[in-house]
Amino acid sequence: MATRILVTGGTGYIGSHTTVELQQAGYEVVSIDNLSNSNIKVLDGIEAITGVRPLFEQVDCTDMQALKAVFEKYPGIKAIINFAASKAVGESVQKPLLYYRNNLVTLLNLLDLMPRYGVEGFVFSSSCTVYGQPDHLPVNEDTPIKPATSPYGNTKQICEEIINDAVHAEAPYKAVLLRYFNPIGAHPSALIGELPLGVPQNLIPFVTQTAAGIRPCLSVFGDDYNTPDGSCIRDYIHVVDLAKAHVAAVGRMLSGKSEKPVEVFNLGTGRGLSVLEVIDTFQKVTGVKLNYKIVGRREGDIEQVWADPTRANQVLGWKAQSTVEETLLSAWRWQQHLGETKE
Ligand code: UD1
Repeated sequence: MATRILVTGGTGYIGSHTTVELQQAGYEVVSIDNLSNSNIKVLDGIEAITGVRPLFEQVDCTDMQALKAVFEKYPGIKAIINFAASKAVGESVQKPLLYYRNNLVTLLNLLDLMPRYGVEGFVFSSSCTVYGQPDHLPVNEDTPIKPATSPYGNTKQICEEIINDAVHAEAPYKAVLLRYFNPIGAHPSALIGELPLGVPQNLIPFVTQTAAGIRPCLSVFGDDYNTPDGSCIRDYIHVVDLAKAHVAAVGRMLSGKSEKPVEVFNLGTGRGLSVLEVIDTFQKVTGVKLNYKIVGRREGDIEQVWADPTRANQVLGWKAQSTVEETLLSAWRWQQHLGETKE
């Protein structure tokens, strides 16, 4: 019988790509989502790619009773991958309590239920935001955590601490904290991808929507940073590569290979790219000219950050494979697919 994995936030951007990779690796996925920031049609895309429709329940993870019912209905869940969280930095400043409630209560509920149902492993979606602006680049996992600059970032730090405390106190399960750099792109089939609600806050959806003519002009937030071309630098990682790291993390925990009860891995490519380089590469690979203008800096932006992924490469046995060209092209193909399927 296939090993059963619970994926929370399973119809979201990273959750849907991870579900595909889990199913292709032979796992059975129970996907749950409250559909607050995703669409049920994502299940059709997952089924079209893998030939398997994941088991699905519309559940809000802050609802303990509803969550408990999932464990009752689907016995034998071996590991949980927790994507269910609010993730917009700006919104978190406006609605901090919403962010603390969603992100922390979800985690507490899941951790409470794990020992009761014999769940052996927990994977947490963390972020490079925990490092703030690091003093040294690239950033490895021993780089000190800086005070959070937004409630969103703070929830990631607090959740990491909660997991550490819980695992060390109870220890019937293992955990892996995955610190994502900037996940972008879409599945090569163009059947699933990122579905931003309203005006995109992140760079790549704004780029693809501008290229598609949905937005008139892309704003580049600052060209006076202390970087070679003056724009901010990030480590953009293909979402399919990122998804595969979750499969590796689950396999590692369930096969008893974890060296510590809680392991931390940076998930990035190891390469930093500036905003202007992203625009240039996007134009080259797609042949589409982007209308953009330089505007002032965005408040709260980090100047530059990119990963040292050595630990993930060596210990987890995972490495980002896609080139930035392939990644940007996949984002564009997904945008085109969305344009074609719009009613
Ligand atoms: C932010 C968060 C990260 C979070 C992610 C997901 C921080 C430091 N980072 O990443 O933790 O996981 O959002 O939502 O809190 N840009 C433009 N024009 C645009 C949009 C973006 O120039 O219209 C620039 C930004 O200034 C930045 C780069 O593009 O330099 C990437 O921005 P974005 O995609 O929003 O991601 P981060 O801010 O890096």
